[in-house]
Amino acid sequence: MSETEARLNAGPDLGTEGAAIADLPEGGLLAGHFQGDPVVLVRKSEGIFALGGKCTHYGGPLGEGLFDGEVVRCPWHHACFRPETGQAECAPAIDPVPIYTVEQRDGRVFVRGAKKAPPHRAAHSSAPDSVVIVGGGAAGFAAAETLRREGYAGGVTIVSADEAAPYDRPNLSKDYLAGTAQSEWIPLRSPEWYRDTGVQLSLGKRVTAVLPGERRIRLEGGGSLGYGALLLATGASPVRLDCPGANLPHVHTLRSMRDCDSIIAGASRAKKAVVVGASFIGLEVAASLITRGLAVHVVAPDAVPMERVLGPDLGAFVRTLHEQHGVVFHLRHTLAGIGEGSVTLEDGSTIEADLVVLGVGVRPNLELAEGAGLRLDHGVLVDEFLGTSAEGVWAAGDIARWPDRFSGERIRVEHWVVAERQGQTAARNILGGREPFTAAPFFWSQHYDVAINYVGHASSWDEVAVTGSIPDRDCLVAYRKGGKTLAVASIYRDVPSLKAQVAMERGDRRALEAILDA
Ligand SMILES: Cc1cc2nc3c(=O)[nH]c(=O)nc-3n(C[C@H](O)[C@H](O)[C@H](O)COP(=O)(O)OP(=O)(O)OC[C@H]3O[C@@H](n4cnc5c(N)ncnc54)[C@H](O)[C@@H]3O)c2cc1C
Ligand code: FES
Repeated sequence: MSETEARLNAGPDLGTEGAAIADLPEGGLLAGHFQGDPVVLVRKSEGIFALGGKCTHYGGPLGEGLFDGEVVRCPWHHACFRPETGQAECAPAIDPVPIYTVEQRDGRVFVRGAKKAPPHRAAHSSAPDSVVIVGGGAAGFAAAETLRREGYAGGVTIVSADEAAPYDRPNLSKDYLAGTAQSEWIPLRSPEWYRDTGVQLSLGKRVTAVLPGERRIRLEGGGSLGYGALLLATGASPVRLDCPGANLPHVHTLRSMRDCDSIIAGASRAKKAVVVGASFIGLEVAASLITRGLAVHVVAPDAVPMERVLGPDLGAFVRTLHEQHGVVFHLRHTLAGIGEGSVTLEDGSTIEADLVVLGVGVRPNLELAEGAGLRLDHGVLVDEFLGTSAEGVWAAGDIARWPDRFSGERIRVEHWVVAERQGQTAARNILGGREPFTAAPFFWSQHYDVAINYVGHASSWDEVAVTGSIPDRDCLVAYRKGGKTLAVASIYRDVPSLKAQVAMERGDRRALEAILDA
């Protein structure tokens, strides 16, 4: 049994032994198992609920997560499940977990068997007759899935410049690139799902213009498509360096499945790789190439990797972690040029490389929004419901700059879970909902066996406070400005990270500080 399986099957057999009701306080969570499957019990004022204990995203143990009084939150990447229905209410999980009947007897609670989720009924009196989604990434897919999950029966079309159907992009720098994930895990849905739900996929098709006045988009190569509502979810594109040799065939950027496959093909022939940029993606690529057996050098102008986001101490830890796995850093250096078998730095020194990956950041794809005359400010400006300045046009994901309630600022982030959750919220609002987007930003980054989770958003800070120990991989790191905590990074402190996110979403600063002080 793997460590994760053992953790999933921890706790009592809820079918035979049951659990003492007294051990399950209001708002509490208790993990056990039923007929070999992990089950979680939670107590809400209306009663006790039992739901599957294995997250449908990557199989995280929900019993080690948090019940916030409304939903059960996964410790790994913060998906939320509703105990009454098992529905994956917020990404990154999409599929529901099973739910079970419970029996209370003699002060104990027992799980008795699986039960059907109640049907989801939603009224869509003001829904448009069709929805067109530009972009088949995180936000675009999540929106299409939500429209159907909400029972919307009108036309749903995803038009995507990518030739592949929506897939798990974060995996492209992690297990898929390392060769430890199978390719079947990567698509978010099977071809049958699109057929059965009637979500039309128009792949390998670039949208060239949005005409909000006509409620129509123009497609590359001619042709156009009308819409009742439009969601713009065009994501971002990697920055390419403007230096000699940047366009050589062994020089790559990483955004799409195609990019990843061509890095994998290059890695199979290469022995020495240079990764340019000590960004999250750059360093995840470095880790994956090390797993593939390549020698990896990282060149970056920073003094400490990811210092701007994680601060000096956590950044130094990330550097040491990579060095322990064999990565060689060339920090405070920039690239002067790339040749066939080596790269040259600004000081004239060279590093041998038969594979080069550029991880020097991304730019949001704003051309369509700009051409359509939408209000922009370093992103597409959206209101709290994710509506743009044009009637019937919504925006979500890496391109959207929204009014974030907790920070009180308009922010734009490049996180998978944020993009998916915005796609979900935008879909419900397209159907006539008035649901503000209130999720506190969350991202994770994986470096070998260390996952760094981060909630909130701190574009700058004047204090970094560490609780616990970074070298011992057991810490919370708070980023503060003017005494206020803006964001919290964590290593192996999943429940405090979840609690911090809940506190941010509730605007409860006192609760947030208490979590950090505990
Ligand atoms: C390798 C990699 C690893 C990552 N790892 C993480 C991680 O661990 N954690 C995390 O939080 N985030 C991670 N991210 C970031 C995350 O993937 C993005 O924030 C997220 O995908 C943004 O979603 P989106 O829907 O806005 O855009 P995308 O997912 O990029 O989708 C945009 C879509 O729009 C299409 N498109 C663009 N222009 C047009 C056009 N004119 N016409 C038609 N289609 C168009 C594109 O082809 C694409 O399908 C990672 C990103 C990459 C590249
Ligand atoms: S495993 Fe649960 S959110 Fe990823």
